[in-house]
Amino acid sequence: MTNISKTLVTTPKALPPSDKLGFGQYFTDHMFVAKYAEGKGWYDAQILPYGPLEIDPGASVLHYGQALFEGMKAFRQADGKVVFFRPEFNYNRLVEGAERICLEAPPMELFMQGLHELVAADERWIPHEPNTSLYIRPTLIGTEAFLGVRPSRETTFMILLSPVGAYYAEGTKPVKIWTEEKYLRAAPGGLGAVKAGANYAASLKAALEAKKKGYAQVLWLDVEHLGIEEVGTMNAFFVFNNEIVTPELNGSILSGGTRDAIIQVLKKKNLPIVERRITITEVIERLDKGELKEAFGTGTAAVISPIGVIHYNEKDWTINNCENGPLSTELYKEITSIQKGALKDDFGWIVPLTV
Ligand code: COI
Repeated sequence: MTNISKTLVTTPKALPPSDKLGFGQYFTDHMFVAKYAEGKGWYDAQILPYGPLEIDPGASVLHYGQALFEGMKAFRQADGKVVFFRPEFNYNRLVEGAERICLEAPPMELFMQGLHELVAADERWIPHEPNTSLYIRPTLIGTEAFLGVRPSRETTFMILLSPVGAYYAEGTKPVKIWTEEKYLRAAPGGLGAVKAGANYAASLKAALEAKKKGYAQVLWLDVEHLGIEEVGTMNAFFVFNNEIVTPELNGSILSGGTRDAIIQVLKKKNLPIVERRITITEVIERLDKGELKEAFGTGTAAVISPIGVIHYNEKDWTINNCENGPLSTELYKEITSIQKGALKDDFGWIVPLTV
């Protein structure tokens, strides 16, 4: 056990109304911060009041984008118990991402101890209502100050907490998505498979343009502008009459925790889930023939969001009359029931808060 020093707030903030949480608008009273320096190891682990970090203007994160994050959630179950959903999955992905962008990942014990102690300190922030949770944002940044291009020898690890409701303004209703035919989010050999801040920077312009045209999200294609990759904040699933398809992890798609959970649930139900390359032309052709029954996205923030409209090649293609489909409705209920404790967790995903 690391010694985590604690400085708690003297005046806790007022809690936001739980029916107006939206996504990522509020931060809790505290944050967890720990530092690493080459030759020194991890030091200065602390829980302290949420607030600005002191950072050198020469820090590598500010110049060369050495930033990586995770998205995970804690839930309050009906009996008041607090649980995490798959924290080891997120830890392991953070380790893989850190290796790719040359940052130091914290040891598992430090990550878990910081997580549990921080959530315990801010437990009152975890909302009770259905469709709410505490979103958790573990983040790694390169903090060494230098201007030559090389990996930072210093890393800061922090965990932020934010009580959240639905990610989209549409709530759990189908969203409209824009197939991006000009910009790219990622390319083979790049950073697309890890949760680097840079991937999101690359996505902002297309997302802004799509939003202006009335679309909630962008459907990203591969370098040929053909193969479907992901929706940026979600992995994509297409429900055809004879198979359920999600793009295979080809090295530029993020390996989502909810994606993996949904694949496991579908396999347990003996439904024909296939991970393979799928092109936008196949989706549109099969939609046109009436073979595409539903489409949905999966993500920690978005949970399971039905896709009601895909814009492609100057046309809006409507799926399932832009209504919630039976499979995405069932999967949403199943995953959220496991998270909230209403359904037994047969998968080993739920980890109780312990301090
Ligand atoms: C998540 O689902 O955790 C994400 O990271 C998506 C987005 C909010 C960045």
